[in-house]
Amino acid sequence: MLLRGNKRKVGRNDPCPCGSGLKYKKCCLGKDLSSRENLKELYYKNYKIRLKEKKDIEGIRKTGRLALRTLDLVEMKIHAGMSTEEINTLVHKFTVENGAVPAPLNYRGFPKSVCVSVNDVICHGIPGQRTLEDGDIVNVDVTPILDGYYADVSKTFFVGTPGRDAQKIVKVAKESLKRGISMARPGNRIGDIGWAIQSYAESQGCSVVQEFIGHGVGFDFHEPPQVPHFGRKGEGIPLVPGMVFTIEPMINLGKRHLRILDDNWTAVTADGSLSAQFEQTVLITEEGFESLTPYDL
Ligand code: MF3
Ligand code: CO
Ligand code: CO
Repeated sequence: MLLRGNKRKVGRNDPCPCGSGLKYKKCCLGKDLSSRENLKELYYKNYKIRLKEKKDIEGIRKTGRLALRTLDLVEMKIHAGMSTEEINTLVHKFTVENGAVPAPLNYRGFPKSVCVSVNDVICHGIPGQRTLEDGDIVNVDVTPILDGYYADVSKTFFVGTPGRDAQKIVKVAKESLKRGISMARPGNRIGDIGWAIQSYAESQGCSVVQEFIGHGVGFDFHEPPQVPHFGRKGEGIPLVPGMVFTIEPMINLGKRHLRILDDNWTAVTADGSLSAQFEQTVLITEEGFESLTPYDL
């Protein structure tokens, strides 16, 4: 049934019907709302977000496939007694052999080609002489650049047989990513993603790291928008087709607080509790989303 009196003209100061959250006059007034070019301009002008075109998406998807094959290789080779440096060597060689460049290497002074984060290390672990032990959990975060396109993906692996705490934090981190991704569709907003993650993780007695967040990706390593893994439903930038960003919740078994080691990179939980993370690069489509680095969650 059509409601009467519903044809009121959109006022200049009303919220724009395109869902941008801006005033109509600052947004689509006088523009063809259906035009993709306008949306692209608008998202760049208002948020510095570069929406991706078909050919860009194909490029990022291709990089994503290489990134996933890299993680498969690591998963196949990972074992107790292996050093984190050996994981770096594996990732570096495989990336270069496949015509790509490892984005982490020399990124803002990061000295290695991959982040390897063990147990209470939340993220940005620098590969080195540390050897993996039975029962460890290890996040491996890879970001190749292929033909100029970036894709960012990580998983947390078990070394040998995990204990109960290790099993729990890995399960909650994986489910957190799944719930975050499930909010990725046009009509939802960035805050819906963080809300879904935070409310779930906290319901399991775990906590969400706030200092590191997901990010736009594709043309560069870290682009707008910022994608917090906490927040409020219905807040933030509206999701529109062509947005490509990561969702990468870092979930702690204890409290959320962190400390950065003297190497200025390694982030560890302040209370020494275990931390786990899963990350995928996600595209917003007309229908919902497509992971450009898909794996089962
Ligand atoms: N891959 C990380 C992310 O998900 C960033 C690592 S930055 C580095 O955003 F310099 F440590 F590689
Ligand atoms: Co990332
Ligand atoms: Co990453």
